[in-house]
Amino acid sequence: MKFFVDTADTKDIADLAATGLLDGVTTNPSLIHKSGRGFVEVVTEICGIVEGPVSAEVVALDHETMMKEAEVLRKIADNIAIKVPLTIDGLKTCKALTSDGTMVNVTLCFSANQALLAAKAGATFISPFVGRHDDNGLDGMQLISDIRLIYDNYDFATEILVASIRHPIHVLESAKIGADVMTAPPAVIRALFNHVLTDKGIAGFLADWEKTGQSIL
Ligand code: E4P
Repeated sequence: MKFFVDTADTKDIADLAATGLLDGVTTNPSLIHKSGRGFVEVVTEICGIVEGPVSAEVVALDHETMMKEAEVLRKIADNIAIKVPLTIDGLKTCKALTSDGTMVNVTLCFSANQALLAAKAGATFISPFVGRHDDNGLDGMQLISDIRLIYDNYDFATEILVASIRHPIHVLESAKIGADVMTAPPAVIRALFNHVLTDKGIAGFLADWEKTGQSIL
């Protein structure tokens, strides 16, 4: 499963990229707002840090303007994936851009039928929002299982990008279901490293090492 980080904070991106486990980045207008920086400036910087897909979202609601915005965004770098909402105009834009060789991430997906439409429109990635699904009393991971089944039934090449991840269990379940990609906030990715027995083991080994009176360097 590929790991994307869901942030526009370039310090976090650079720090996680140094671990070698970062395959891409997702941003959205809220994350750009949180960064307090210019959209094109920050996305350009992110594309210089990470080689994999970097999602940048259009904000227009009509196909024609979406295409104009996509034109600006895809000029930033070759690894830009244009993010479009799951609407009729969004999918028209998806079809046009992917036919032209541009990566497209169809976002704000909340049903398996929507995911089916995105795949038929040639989406590179479909982003089902599991956390927001759960927040509304629905089962986000069931949605991922349903999309996996449908995509496998018809051999769709669209990658399932699990989004709106809130905690490590979402990551674990995504991997068990066979999602292609997950995107999570930096704090959730960092939490994946943690285990109380790892900390306890390090403390025990260091205590015994101290007793040997030796040093490696
Ligand atoms: C994905 O591409 C979105 O940016 C993101 O995962 C949304 O997550 P949220 O529901 O935590 O805002």
